[in-house]
Amino acid sequence: MNLNTTIAGINLQTPLVMASGTFGFGEDFARFDDFDDSAVGAISLKGTTLEPRLGNPPPRIAETPAGVLNAIGLQNPGVDAVVRHVLPRLEAGGLTTPLFANIAGETVEEYAEVARRFSTAPNIAALEVNISCPNVRHGGLAFGADPAEAARVVRAVRQATDLPVITKLSPNTGRLVEVAEACVDAGSDALSLINTLVGMVIDLRSRRPLLGNQTGGLSGPAIRPVAVAQVFRVYAALGHRLPIIGMGGVSDADGAFEIILAGGAAVGVGTALFFNHRAPREIADGLERHLADAGLSRLSDAVGAAHRQSRIGGGGP
Ligand SMILES: Cc1cc2nc3c(=O)[nH]c(=O)nc-3n(C[C@H](O)[C@H](O)[C@H](O)COP(=O)(O)O)c2cc1C
Repeated sequence: MNLNTTIAGINLQTPLVMASGTFGFGEDFARFDDFDDSAVGAISLKGTTLEPRLGNPPPRIAETPAGVLNAIGLQNPGVDAVVRHVLPRLEAGGLTTPLFANIAGETVEEYAEVARRFSTAPNIAALEVNISCPNVRHGGLAFGADPAEAARVVRAVRQATDLPVITKLSPNTGRLVEVAEACVDAGSDALSLINTLVGMVIDLRSRRPLLGNQTGGLSGPAIRPVAVAQVFRVYAALGHRLPIIGMGGVSDADGAFEIILAGGAAVGVGTALFFNHRAPREIADGLERHLADAGLSRLSDAVGAAHRQSRIGGGGP
C-alpha cells in the first residue's frame, strides 16, 4: 500500500507529521526502543524564536476530560543554538526524516530573521510559520487572526528563504478562510491547521485559574471534530491551490482517515504521542486498512474525498 504523500515538493514516506511542540527536537523519542521511525513522514520541530525563551510561569500543563491544556509559551533555546548544536547532532545521528523548522516571533522582522538563519542549515526541509500560538503576549495569534497581518509575516518569510513555506493557522478566529487565502496569496506553499483552542481550567482549591498564564491551548481528542471541520472548510476554499497538513486530536487511524477525507494531504499527530508513543505505527497500519477497505491503492486518492461525497456544503446545524 502506498502511503507516500507530497507536501510543497517534499516527499514523505507516510502522511504522519509529528506536531510541533510534542516531539521536541526529534531526540526525545529515540529513548523508546520500540518507537518506529518508518511510520513517521516528517517531524515539525519545537517552535523556535530569535532569542532563547524560558516560556511561561508554571503550572504550564493541565489535564482535561478529553485533552490537554498547555501554556508553555514557546520555551526554546533560540535559533542559533538549534542551528549550531541541535541540527548537526540530528544529522550526525543519521536522521533522514524531513524536518520542518517551526518558527515564531514577536515582530515580522523577527520571523524573517529566524527564517533566514534556519535556511543556512543543510537538514531543514521546510519552514512552518507559526502565526497561531495562543500562549504568548506578543506575536502568535496577533498575526494569525488577521488576514493582512498574517500576509505580512508570510511575505517577509517568503522573501527571506528559498525553502518551502508552510503556514500554521489558528482555529481561534472567525476569519480562518480569509486568513488562509491571504497566506496563500502571500506565497505560502502549504498550510497546516489547527493549532490549539484557547481554554481555561479553574483550580477548585484556590478558586483561581490553574495555569500560570491563566489561559492555555486545548489539544487532544476533544478538538478532533473542530479540526476536521476546519480542514474541510479550508480545503473547500483552497484545496485546489496547495496541500494541507491537517491536525488536531488525531490519536488513531480513524481520526487520521477523517482528516484525510476532509482534505489533509498529511496528518499531524501531537498530544497522542504523550500517552501512546506507538501511535504513529498504529495509525500508519490502520490507514493501510482503511485504504484497502475503500478499494484505493494510493493515499492521494482519498485526500478530500469527503467533498466529492458530501451532501451538505459547510455551515452548521
Ligand atoms: C505541549 C504542546 C506544545 C506545543 N507547541 C507548539 C509550537 O511550539 N508550535 C506550534 O506551531 N504548535 C505547537 N503546539 C500545537 C501542536 O503542534 C498541534 O497543532 C496541536 O496540539 C493540535 O494537535 P494535537 O491535538 O494532535 O496535539 C503545541 C501543542 C502542545 C500540546
